[in-house]
Amino acid sequence: MNGTNPKNFRLLSFPVSADFQLVLFIGILLLYSLILLGNLVIIALISLTPQLRTPMYYFLCNLSVQDVVYVSAILPKFLTITITKDSRISFPGCIAQMFLFTFCVGTEFLLLTSMAYDRYVAVCAPLHYPNIMSRVTCVLLALASWLLGFLTALVHSLMVSFASFCSSQDINHFYCDLKTVIGVASSDTTHIKTLLFAVCVLLGLFPFLLILTSYIFIIMTVIRIRSSEGKVKAFSSCSSHLTVVILFYGTPLSSYMIPESPHSQEKDKTLSLLYTAVVPLLNPLVYSLRNKDILAALKSVTDKYFRFSINVMSRK
Ligand SMILES: *[C@@H]1O[C@H](CO)[C@@H](O)[C@H](O)[C@H]1NC(C)=O
Repeated sequence: MNGTNPKNFRLLSFPVSADFQLVLFIGILLLYSLILLGNLVIIALISLTPQLRTPMYYFLCNLSVQDVVYVSAILPKFLTITITKDSRISFPGCIAQMFLFTFCVGTEFLLLTSMAYDRYVAVCAPLHYPNIMSRVTCVLLALASWLLGFLTALVHSLMVSFASFCSSQDINHFYCDLKTVIGVASSDTTHIKTLLFAVCVLLGLFPFLLILTSYIFIIMTVIRIRSSEGKVKAFSSCSSHLTVVILFYGTPLSSYMIPESPHSQEKDKTLSLLYTAVVPLLNPLVYSLRNKDILAALKSVTDKYFRFSINVMSRK
């Protein structure tokens, strides 16, 4: 290992025609703007509305922050590459992308697990809910998620930055995807791959099993509720969370289900595009459109704002 690292990588992105390049640019730009708008509205609403100061919404606010960060680490660069056709990315830039993506996605899995626990307590032990999900518990859960996500991302980025690469390396992806970058390293990467596997188990499979267990208990409790109205009410408090879990786990899982083939890298890129440009948008949509609390908060905030601006205008 000589440890020499290239100044630049080249991101090959998608092999599309010049016409389609513009369509791709506009489409991604639109999605990126909507992701920023949707998530910032969610963050603003939750911070401005006292009725939404509950554990569920605090965690949702955390999720939105993560979404904004990881999407902003990837999509602006992708947009630049698409429109300028200059596919170079500096080595530190590449490591930074990798770090932010791993950090945010790892943290989101853990936050989704904390939210599942919150739903479990709310449905299965409603009387103890205020005691169990206290302010301290929530802050500790959120802090632990951020810290674990941060540490794993740090270890991964350091390991990749110490690996060696040939000069001017092509990366067949639209951002510095950890798996793809490791694949083109010229030094031995077995230890990084082993670590990656361990992290997938720790931050992917283990939280998934915890979420699954919570939902088994939730469903068992819901089945025992006598009135069908009560059943619907108990389950609908979980349905938004369940939808986001399925979206969040479905995409990477299906990526790992695809057998290795010459075309698997292309499918991988398309799935990654879904993951970085569509899933973060669905997150606020799922929570806001289907949720009376959020809609009510939106209405009260806009009412307040309009009344304020009308007052200001009439004073002039
Ligand atoms: C994240 O969640 C914690 C715990 O509920 C909360 O105290 C904190 O304000 C949230 N932070 C953000 C940025 O949403």
